[in-house]
Amino acid sequence: MLGLNDKELVRTGSFINGQWCDSEESFAVTNPANGDTLVLVANHGTEGAEKAVAAAHQAFKAWAAKSAGERATLMRKWYELMMQHQDDLGRLLTLEQGKPLAEARGEIAYGASYIEWFAEEAKRVYGDVIPAPSADKKVVVIKQPVGVVSAVTPWNFPNAMIARKAAAALAAGCTFVVKPAAETPLSALAMAELAKRAGIPDGVLNVITGKDSKAIGKVLTEDPRVRKFTFTGSTQVGKLLISQCASTVKKVSMELGGNAPFIVFDDADLDAAVKGLLASKFRNAGQTCVCANRIFVHQNVYKAFSEKLTAAVAELKIGDGLEQDTTIGPLISSDALNKVQGLISDSVSMGARVIAGGEPLNKELLFFNPTVLIDVTNDMPVASEEIFGPVVPLIAFDDEQQVIDMANDTDFGLAAYFYSRDVGRVWRVAEGLEYGMVGINEGAISNPAAPFGGVKQSGNGREGSRYGLDDYLECKYLCMGGI
Ligand code: SIN
Repeated sequence: MLGLNDKELVRTGSFINGQWCDSEESFAVTNPANGDTLVLVANHGTEGAEKAVAAAHQAFKAWAAKSAGERATLMRKWYELMMQHQDDLGRLLTLEQGKPLAEARGEIAYGASYIEWFAEEAKRVYGDVIPAPSADKKVVVIKQPVGVVSAVTPWNFPNAMIARKAAAALAAGCTFVVKPAAETPLSALAMAELAKRAGIPDGVLNVITGKDSKAIGKVLTEDPRVRKFTFTGSTQVGKLLISQCASTVKKVSMELGGNAPFIVFDDADLDAAVKGLLASKFRNAGQTCVCANRIFVHQNVYKAFSEKLTAAVAELKIGDGLEQDTTIGPLISSDALNKVQGLISDSVSMGARVIAGGEPLNKELLFFNPTVLIDVTNDMPVASEEIFGPVVPLIAFDDEQQVIDMANDTDFGLAAYFYSRDVGRVWRVAEGLEYGMVGINEGAISNPAAPFGGVKQSGNGREGSRYGLDDYLECKYLCMGGI
């Protein structure tokens, strides 16, 4: 089915309490490269979501009671199965999401790496013994899983965004319910199939598929049995979900929108900066929260940089992700394509100039030509809004403090990047940027050992690293008296 070697990886029902659950209604999952329907998937709503939460609640005590080592053994098996099926999982991901096959296979390895990493790290969830203020007492801190965790995940990384939430949750001893994006449920369901094969007990991992995100989201954010809610998606939706979590005072972690500055100083290695920009900007056709959104280039190197960049962009190959040499796939929807087109036209009407691309590849499909814009200013729509498409707006600057101020002049604070070889400047700029993550002479910053997350309206909490595990643990203080 769908050209996969292991046909059982194509699942179409929600995965609740270890069972595949169909529904009376279904919805189509389509291939963004050509609009074809891939399969029909179960369309669950409130009732399905409640069943999934009940299953996770029921499974919690036994899962939390396992030792970290026992949980790690099962998670390690899950990781190995994901890597054994990397080709099939990558193909499924490309079919439903559109990114080039090499990137999709990379995402499977990236997602799986969180499962491997957190399984190991959970063995190192240490408590604390704190010197007490009086001799007859002991102050001890232990860490315990928060309980049932629910999650809503996006279409841009259908595997990795689930893996890094589920892995931290399961490793900490929590049980998990996820609602994947309706555009890309197949990767989530394939992950659940492999979790089942790995022996992860029924109810520990649940996947609820459905079109009615509002109804499912309401259960996942308001049900009192859920103790933590985690979301990756837009800031606008994140704010609503945070407010829904308030009624039961859930722990929340949010990975929301970004507007990443990418700064090229005049002492930078320009070839390295072009390479880093391509890696950051064109990953997933520019549809990532961390991708460079505003490119600030010192005026002394503006012309040289824009020429090198345009030459590199001309080498990119746009097309169906399943084709061998494709480096840029389609956008996810016609709304996404129209938004990108609108941001370009509005900015051009304010004085920006297109020096590469600027248009969709054709009228029928969702491919947008990689685009470079010059003479952009920080107040134009391509700079003030998150583009989520393959567009590079170049903004000139001439002073270090000026560019830090421009970079910080946004409500967002997820990722920032800069290129410089001056060690003093590296520290000043790294400390001056109001962002959760900063790439210094590096365009690819994500990995499981590092704390991924933002400040300001880009969210709260961290994913990956020991900080990411802490988000799934409560710390409990034990005061022992009568010593
Ligand atoms: C995202 O854009 O949402 C995630 C990107 C990453 O994990 O690198």
